[in-house]
Amino acid sequence: MSMFLAGLVLVVYVAASPLHSTAVPTSTTSFILIGDSTTANGTTPNSGGWGNGFCGSTNTSTPSSLQLGTSCINIAHDGATIGIFVADGFWNISVAAIEGEVAKGQRTFVTIQFGHNDMKIADPESMGTNLTIMVQEIRALGAEPILVTSLTRRTFNDNGTIADTLQPWADETILIAEQQGTHLLDLHEASIEYCEAIGPDAAHRLNRLPDDNTHLNVNGTIVFGRMVADLMAASFPLFALPIIPNPRLTFNITHGIASY
Ligand SMILES: *[C@@H]1O[C@H](CO)[C@@H](O)[C@H](O)[C@H]1NC(C)=O
Ligand SMILES: *[C@@H]1O[C@H](CO)[C@@H](O)[C@H](O)[C@H]1NC(C)=O
Ligand SMILES: *[C@@H]1O[C@H](CO)[C@@H](O)[C@H](O)[C@H]1NC(C)=O
Ligand SMILES: *[C@@H]1O[C@H](CO)[C@@H](O)[C@H](O)[C@H]1NC(C)=O
Ligand SMILES: *[C@@H]1O[C@H](CO)[C@@H](O)[C@H](O)[C@H]1NC(C)=O
Ligand SMILES: *[C@@H]1O[C@H](CO)[C@@H](O)[C@H](O)[C@H]1NC(C)=O
Ligand SMILES: *[C@@H]1O[C@H](CO)[C@@H](O)[C@H](O)[C@H]1NC(C)=O
Repeated sequence: MSMFLAGLVLVVYVAASPLHSTAVPTSTTSFILIGDSTTANGTTPNSGGWGNGFCGSTNTSTPSSLQLGTSCINIAHDGATIGIFVADGFWNISVAAIEGEVAKGQRTFVTIQFGHNDMKIADPESMGTNLTIMVQEIRALGAEPILVTSLTRRTFNDNGTIADTLQPWADETILIAEQQGTHLLDLHEASIEYCEAIGPDAAHRLNRLPDDNTHLNVNGTIVFGRMVADLMAASFPLFALPIIPNPRLTFNITHGIASY
């Protein structure tokens, strides 16, 4: 932990130093995040989802998983089903953001993760139909969609397995990714595997509030933001994404070791 934080301090120092400001690499890759609160950055010092750990947040001193100068725009919204995301105008905001990045000549990746709220109102197929439309519209705008399955809730059965209810929505996301030929990050599977490996006590230390097994605190966003970054890097083996490695945290995640 202490070495990890030391690395963070160094990054912040370089970012803030006028001497180095001209040397800041400017990435030609941009990221836009679409989804619900389990991706959203939250409105308190404790983040809601994995977005801050992926993009970084100066507001909460959360280190980024991305190289300095990489545009990462988190439009995910608390409480959103994919339909609400569109109806409440967040899709239009996303379209404007995508157009802006594409117009600058950026290779623009758009992650989409829904399920947590969709499961409360409709069958998986309803989410899937809307995912298909979104994927096609993102491609028409000149950007590349990446479908992401739902981050697991950290609710456990007595025998130590995750009490999961999101699998049908994860399966639907996987189906649409196959049908549309998009990249897929199976965050649902990876997060279940990790939470079961570290167990309830360690998993709940990543909760935003002690009884909130859905949303993440800053440590949680760092862990699952890294998990997303690593799943993404693995999904693009032939294209160097502007992702900063964090070998110690990646080791812990891939070996089922609690990090906080
Ligand atoms: C990884 O786990 C070890 C052992 O629990 C811990 O000391 C270390 O701080 C963790 N590393 C990171 C980067 O979180
Ligand atoms: C930034 O963080 C502070 C607490 O550190 C919080 O009060 C504020 O709401 C946050 N602002 C935004 C825009 O997230
Ligand atoms: C969340 O995102 C908004 C809009 O991009 C930004 O103004 C705010 O500072 C972010 N909050 C945190 C805690 O990162
Ligand atoms: C999909 O979009 C339609 C509107 O086109 C909406 O009625 C439906 O609720 C949406 N499905 C979900 C799961 O949000
Ligand atoms: C989104 O933009 C379209 C096209 O301009 C418009 O028809 C629609 O009403 C907008 N949606 C919302 C929720 O504002
Ligand atoms: C653990 O408990 C759950 C809920 O009772 C059950 O569905 C599942 O099959 C059990 N798994 C194992 C490996 O025992
Ligand atoms: C986050 O992890 C650090 C280092 O292990 C710890 O000191 C801190 O209390 C943790 N924060 C929360 C909210 O659990």
